[in-house]
Amino acid sequence: PRVAVLASGGGSNLQALIDAHERGDLPAPIVLVISNRAKAGALERARRHGIPAIHVGVGRRARRQDHGDPHARILELLREHRVEVVVLAGWLVLVDPGLLAAFPERVINIHPGPLPRFGGKGMYGLHVHEAVLAAGVKSSGPTVHLVNERYDEGPILAHVEVPVEPEDTAETLQRRVLRAEHGLLWRVLRERYCGDELGSVEPS
Ligand code: GRF
Repeated sequence: PRVAVLASGGGSNLQALIDAHERGDLPAPIVLVISNRAKAGALERARRHGIPAIHVGVGRRARRQDHGDPHARILELLREHRVEVVVLAGWLVLVDPGLLAAFPERVINIHPGPLPRFGGKGMYGLHVHEAVLAAGVKSSGPTVHLVNERYDEGPILAHVEVPVEPEDTAETLQRRVLRAEHGLLWRVLRERYCGDELGSVEPS
């Protein structure tokens, strides 16, 4: 299937998907990258690989749009590029119900901690790792889930355990979890969407 990645940040997960596709591990091309931040590293990474990379101002920090509804714009871009599966990789904006309706069971998110315990509103980036350390648990690790209308709540597709070391800071834990994310996301995409029956289904 043709994959779009929505990313607000540096885009190391996007890079892991591009790399997996380029080395032949992921038979799904990344055909579009959208970011709500004009300067997101994710856009730069996409451009370096010749992937259309588009900024759409949406979310808390977006200035008032002159170009109409940003959610409608995103949907239009996904249709234009004949996208079949949408991956949220560090996308810090609540997903619009219109997008979920257009891609039923075809929008996935990667979260840098165990769900549901370490998810929800405000649980992103370092906040997740700080909460994990504060809880004193022995293991953390990324979770990939189907997206619904609430933060971090859709059905879980996969989770990888990553040990929490006694000397960890939120930063060291974040680095270790991020490495696990890079190995997980393409595997989930491949398993769930690259089977023969599913590979060619069109979004509604
Ligand atoms: C990752 O930790 C991801 O789980 C979270 O945001 C971070 C994005 O990192 N949702 P990157 O932009 O892919 O490097």
